[in-house]
Amino acid sequence: MAANLSGKVFIVTGGFGALGRAVGEELVKRGARVALLDRSDSAGAGVPSATLAIGGVDLGDEAAAGAALARVREQLGAIDGLVNVAGGFAWETLQSGAVSTWDRMYEINLRTAVVASQAALPHLLERTGGRIVNVGALASVKAGTGMGAYAASKAGVARFTEALAEELKDTGITVNAVLPSIIDTPANRKDMPDADPTRWVTPQALAAVIAFLLSDESAPITGACLPVAGRV
Ligand SMILES: NC(=O)c1ccc[n+]([C@@H]2O[C@H](COP(=O)([O-])OP(=O)(O)OC[C@H]3O[C@@H](n4cnc5c(N)ncnc54)[C@H](OP(=O)(O)O)[C@@H]3O)[C@@H](O)[C@H]2O)c1
Repeated sequence: MAANLSGKVFIVTGGFGALGRAVGEELVKRGARVALLDRSDSAGAGVPSATLAIGGVDLGDEAAAGAALARVREQLGAIDGLVNVAGGFAWETLQSGAVSTWDRMYEINLRTAVVASQAALPHLLERTGGRIVNVGALASVKAGTGMGAYAASKAGVARFTEALAEELKDTGITVNAVLPSIIDTPANRKDMPDADPTRWVTPQALAAVIAFLLSDESAPITGACLPVAGRV
């Protein structure tokens, strides 16, 4: 039976993107109240209307993240969990690429998770059994050509997950990560027209795994980096 999240309050960063929207939908379906945070000003079509959508938040900015979290606390009540979905991708070889790509990947993928988690912690500590779920990537385990900057930033997410899980072990807050390979998004279908998307994990299936990691049932799991790769 699907984990029941009724009455809980969750924040999803990168909430206007393909995975963030699916996570928002899944959590609402399971009875949670959900805030979606994102950088763009407008939520756009497809963002679940039952969520609190807060745009214009650069999660690399500590003050902006703190203010957004405080707003969620005020509007939805005490916060039970944070899902760090915000991120991005770049494929670039070292020979043809720019060093600035490494900084950009770090900022988008790791810094956003660190800043949002630090802003969320005082709120999560108000409750028992808080949850943080980070979205890493399977490429962080073994990177192919052109994946260096992206994979290094996602390896940072994995190590951050482990370190924070240890730091919070005695608080009852768990910290875990999912490591997708390729998600079946419209962007990936467009970029890889010859691939077989039935092998990829769907945003909905990944959202269901994230929902489990947010549930009370996942309490004994912390510091895990869980591959969710479909048949890739
Ligand atoms: N798609 C895949 O195959 C795949 C595979 C493995 C891992 N992942 C990871 O899964 C997550 C979601 O992927 P997705 O396909 O749903 O990507 P997406 O559609 O691009 O969504 C990511 C969202 O995060 C936002 N974001 C980025 N930086 C931000 C910041 N500093 N502050 C606030 N919001 C920010 C983006 O805003 P902008 O549009 O303004 O950048 C975007 O709305 C990412 O972490 C990605 O690395 C994806």
